[in-house]
Amino acid sequence: MKVAVLGAAGGIGQALALLLKTQLPAGSDLALYDIAPVTPGVAVDLSHIPTAVNIKGFSGEDAKPALEGADIVLISAGVARKPGMDRSDLFNINAGIVKNLIEQVATTCPKACIGIITNPVNTTVAIAAEVLKKAGVYDKNKLFGITTLDIIRSNTFVAELLNVAPTSIEVPVIGGHSGVTILPLLSQVPGANFSAETIEKLTSRIQNAGTEVVEAKAGGGSATLSMGQAAARFCLSLISAMQGNQNVIECTYVEGEGEFARFFAQPVKLGKNGVEARLPIGDLSPFEEKALHGMLDVLKADITLGENFINN
Ligand code: NAD
Ligand code: LMR
Repeated sequence: MKVAVLGAAGGIGQALALLLKTQLPAGSDLALYDIAPVTPGVAVDLSHIPTAVNIKGFSGEDAKPALEGADIVLISAGVARKPGMDRSDLFNINAGIVKNLIEQVATTCPKACIGIITNPVNTTVAIAAEVLKKAGVYDKNKLFGITTLDIIRSNTFVAELLNVAPTSIEVPVIGGHSGVTILPLLSQVPGANFSAETIEKLTSRIQNAGTEVVEAKAGGGSATLSMGQAAARFCLSLISAMQGNQNVIECTYVEGEGEFARFFAQPVKLGKNGVEARLPIGDLSPFEEKALHGMLDVLKADITLGENFINN
C-alpha cells in the first residue's frame, strides 16, 4: 500500500504524515510532497521513527515522483483561513492548486483513491471530479471529500454533554463541509435525548467549529492537528476496507445518486475499490429535515462553482 500526501509540509500535512508514519500497516510506503523545499527534510525527520513504513519526501513543482504507484492520495495543499474569512474565500487560490495536482494524479496514478482536504471542500471535490472526467479516468467510487473532522468534533462535543467516553459516540454528519451544509444527525445518537434548544446550540457549534479554531489561532491558521487526526482516521479506514475488512463505514462527501445534490456527505460502506455502497441517511427529525432542505441551494451553488471552473 502506498499513500501520497500532497501539501505534506503544511500544518495538516505534517501532523498527518506523523500519524501515518506511526500507524500505517507494516511494509507501507508513504510519499510526502509539497512545493516547500523543506519537504524532503520532513521525511528525513520522520524516517527516524522506528516503524516499518518507508517514507520519502519530494518538493518542487512536480508531484509525479511522489504519486508514482500511489494507492491513496490525500490532498491538503493550499491556503487556510484567517479570521473574518469564509471557506469560500479560499476558492481563488485553492481551485487552481487542486486542479493542477489532480491533473498530475490523472496521468500518474489514475486508479488511486483520492481524499480531498483542501477547502472549500464542497467545491474542490467537484473540481477534482471534472478534471478526472476530462482525463477519462473518473471513478466516482474513488473520490472523497474528507469530512471526518465534522464527525470527530461532533463525537467530542456530544460526549462532553452526555458525560460519556468520546470513543463511545459516533455521530453521522451529512451534507457538505461549510456552515449550514454541515448537518450532524443528533437524533440518531443512541441515548441522547437533547432538548430542542440544546440541539440548536450543538448543531450551530458543530457548524462553526472550524471558525472557533480559526479565531482561537488568531491569524495563525485553521485546524491542523485535529484535521491530521481526522484524515489519518479516514485513510486507515480506507486501507482497512481495501485490504478486505468488511463493514467499514465512514461519512464522507462523495458523488451519489443525486437525491439531494450531485455530491453529498453521507455514510458509505468502504471496500476494495473505494465506495462499495452508499448507505441511507436514515430517519431525520423535523429539525434535521428542515436543515437538510435549507442547505441544498448553498451546496448546489458550491458544486456548480467547481464544475464551471473546469468546464467554462
Ligand atoms: P498550511 O498553509 O499549513 O499548509 C498548506 C501547504 O500546502 C503548505 O505547506 C504549502 O507549501 C502547500 N502548498 C501550497 N500550494 C501547493 C502546491 N501547488 N502544491 C503542493 N503544495 C502546495 O495549511 P493547512 O492548515 O495545512 O490547511 C491546508 C488546507 O486544508 C486549507 O485549504 C484548509 O482550509 C484545509 N482544511 C480542511 C479541513 C477539512 O475538514 N477538510 C480542515 C482543516 C483545514
Ligand atoms: C475546519 O473545519 O476546521 C476546516 O474546514 C478549516 C476551516 O477553515 O474552518
